[in-house]
Amino acid sequence: MTQLTWNDLPGPTTRWLGLPTLFALRRDYLAGIVRQQRHGDLVRQRILGERIVDVFDPELLRALMVEHADALQRWERGPEVFAGLMGQSVLVTEGATWQRQRRMLMQAFTPKRVASYAALMAEAAMAGLDRVTPGEVVLDHLYSHLTMDVISRTLFSSPIGDDTAAAADAVQVLSATALAEMFWPMTLPDWLPLPGKAAKRRAQRLLHGLLAARIQGHLPSTGAHPDLLSMLKALRDEATGEALSAQEVYDQCMVSFQAGHETSATALLWWSALLAANPEVQARARAEVDTQLAGHTPTAAHVDSLPFLTATLKEAMRLYPPVAALMTRRLTREITLGGVRLPARTLVRVTPWQLHRDPRWWQEPQAFRPERFMPGAAEIPRGAYIPFGLGPRVCLGQHFAMLEMMLIAALVLQRFTLAGAEPPLPRMGVTLRPAHGLRLRLTARP
Ligand code: HEM
Repeated sequence: MTQLTWNDLPGPTTRWLGLPTLFALRRDYLAGIVRQQRHGDLVRQRILGERIVDVFDPELLRALMVEHADALQRWERGPEVFAGLMGQSVLVTEGATWQRQRRMLMQAFTPKRVASYAALMAEAAMAGLDRVTPGEVVLDHLYSHLTMDVISRTLFSSPIGDDTAAAADAVQVLSATALAEMFWPMTLPDWLPLPGKAAKRRAQRLLHGLLAARIQGHLPSTGAHPDLLSMLKALRDEATGEALSAQEVYDQCMVSFQAGHETSATALLWWSALLAANPEVQARARAEVDTQLAGHTPTAAHVDSLPFLTATLKEAMRLYPPVAALMTRRLTREITLGGVRLPARTLVRVTPWQLHRDPRWWQEPQAFRPERFMPGAAEIPRGAYIPFGLGPRVCLGQHFAMLEMMLIAALVLQRFTLAGAEPPLPRMGVTLRPAHGLRLRLTARP
C-alpha cells in the first residue's frame, strides 16, 4: 500500500504563491483557519513556498505535540519577532538549552510553590479593586493593572506603582507590532525609519528600563515565601548544580512579566463579559463564593472548594482562548501523522479557537455552559481543550494563572455585580482581545 504524503492531503488551491491567502489571514486570521477546516482534519496549504498543515483533530494533535514532540521546534518567526524583548528565555530557546531552563524553572512554578504566592496575588488584586469607582468601568485597564501588579509583586515583592499605564501601553504596542511582523517572511531591523518602528523601540526601552530598575533594586526575600526573583536566583540544575546566568534571570523575568500578565488579563476580560451577559451563571458563582469564603479574603486553600467558579473560568477560556492561534511548529525531521508522511521543514499550525468550538466535541459550542467543566460532566476528549497548549512546551505558568484568576474572580464577585450586553467581537493580537475594549457596569454590593 502506498503511503499518503503532504501532496495528497486535501486543501485549497494555491494561487499567486499563496499571497492572496497570506493577505486574507492578515485581515482575519481565525476566519481563514475556519475556512481551512472545511477540507478535513489534516489540511494542507502552501504560502510563499512553505508547506503548511493544519491539525483539527484532538487525537492527531496529541500524537503530534506529545509523541512527536522531539521533532518539533517553534516556528522561527515567533522567536525572531520577540527576540529584542524576550532574549534567550524558556519561551524561545530550543534543544538542550530549553530543556535545562525548563527543568530549572519548573521548580518555581509547581502548584505548591505557586500557592505560596497567593497572599501577594490577593494583596495586589485588593489594592487594585479598592480603587475602582462603581459605574461604567473600562475593564481592559483594570485587569491589565491588576495582573501586572500581581506579576510585579510575585516577581519582585514590589507593587508596579505608577508605571502601570505606560507599561500596559508598551505591551499593547509590542503585541500589535509583533502580530503584524509575523505575517512577513523576515523582520526588518528596528532602527529603520519605518512606520511602527519608533513606537516599538520606545516600548521596548520602557519595559527594559522598568525591569532593570526592579532587578537592580531587588533585595532577596527572607520570609518563608520567597518572591519569584529570589527563587530564580536560587535555582540550581538538579543534573549539574549550575545556577541560571544573570542574563538568563533577566530574560526569564521579562518573559514572566510579558507572558504572565496579558494572557491572564485577557482571560479575565472574557470571563467578566460572559458573566455580565449571563446573570444566572454569575449569581450561582457568587453564591458559591459567598458560601465558601463567608466574606474572607480568598486563599490558595479555597480553590478546591470553588468548583463552579473554576468551571466559569475554564469555560470562558474555551470560548475565548487568550492564545487563540499561532502555536505554529516546524518539523525538524519527517514524521508520519494519521498515516500521512510529512517531510522535514513542514509547518504545523495549531488553533485552540477552532478546536474549542468544534461541534464534534462540544454540544452547542457557541453557548456559555460552565457545567461542561463540573465534576461528573461528560468527558472532554483529550486534546480538544488546550488553552495552555499541550506537550512538553505546555504553559509553564498554568498553575500560577489559574490561581491568580481564581483569586481575582472571587474578589470581584465579592465586591461587585457585573452587567453588560453580549460579549464584544474578538480581535486577534498576540492574545485574543475584545476588538474595541470591554466596558461593563459595575455595581458595588451592599
Ligand atoms: C490565562 C493565562 C495564560 C494562558 C492562556 C497561557 C497560555 C500559554 C500557551 C498556550 C503556551 C504554549 C504556547 C505554545 O505552545 O507555543 C504558553 C507558554 C508559556 N507560558 Fe503561558 N499562559 C498563561 C499564563 C502564563 C503565566 C502567568 C506565565 C508566567 C508567570 C506564563 C508563562 C509561560 C511560559 C514561560 C511559556 C513557554 C513555555 C515553554 O516554551 O517551555 N504563562 N502559555
